[in-house]
Amino acid sequence: MNIAIIGTGNVAQPLGSLLQGASHRVIFGSRQTTGDRITSVEEAAKQGELVILAVPYETALELASRADIQQALTGKIVIDITNPLAADYMSLRVGHTSSAAERIQERLHGARVVKAFNTIFADVLSAKVQGEAVAATVFVASDDADAKAQVLTLASEMGFASVDSGALTNARYLEPVTELAIQLAYGQGLGTRLGFQLIHVGK
Ligand SMILES: NC(=O)c1ccc[n+]([C@@H]2O[C@H](COP(=O)([O-])OP(=O)(O)OC[C@H]3O[C@@H](n4cnc5c(N)ncnc54)[C@H](OP(=O)(O)O)[C@@H]3O)[C@@H](O)[C@H]2O)c1
Repeated sequence: MNIAIIGTGNVAQPLGSLLQGASHRVIFGSRQTTGDRITSVEEAAKQGELVILAVPYETALELASRADIQQALTGKIVIDITNPLAADYMSLRVGHTSSAAERIQERLHGARVVKAFNTIFADVLSAKVQGEAVAATVFVASDDADAKAQVLTLASEMGFASVDSGALTNARYLEPVTELAIQLAYGQGLGTRLGFQLIHVGK
């Protein structure tokens, strides 16, 4: 599949490597285009069959509010990995009654928004790229059943356990999971090579 990652930062890079490792063609959208694999944000949004928003939450909202981006993403699966963090990362700016994912979906009304990978630290993705055994679970939430199924498959192809995490409104609970990870990583000094694994001891 042709996958466009908007952003070239900490998460975008290892995410791109893992997707390429799973035989997908990856292009990046950036404000600074440097050639074939790094094109403009607009071009990447057009070219990608599936598009990943790997930019700050505020940037994702700005992009989702643009008519040309809305048009480019119509009908496509859009994976929202953002977390609506405060400037110091120590709290969330959205929650309880909405989420970053829902706000993005409201603006990208024609797209099929899926919340996924937001709970996986970039350092954990990089560990996976290096071939380390990483058992973190990818939580996948969306209102579009087919889009959710495709992203669950994508996560499996990348070597992660993944779990259907229900409707997009559940992003209200997935985004705070990341804030807990940040509190553990920075507040408690555990560092960013940590993640969450779902265990299920049966019904
Ligand atoms: N870091 C993590 O461990 C982690 C884990 C899970 C989810 N997330 C989420 O993933 C997202 C990206 O995080 P990150 O750590 O990868 O951030 P990052 O390293 O700072 O990268 C952000 C990317 O966004 C681009 N960007 C910023 N403003 C832009 C704009 N107006 N138009 C186009 N591109 C723009 C930047 O491009 P320039 O290089 O041109 O500035 C950069 O490529 C955030 O929403 C974060 O909450 C992060």
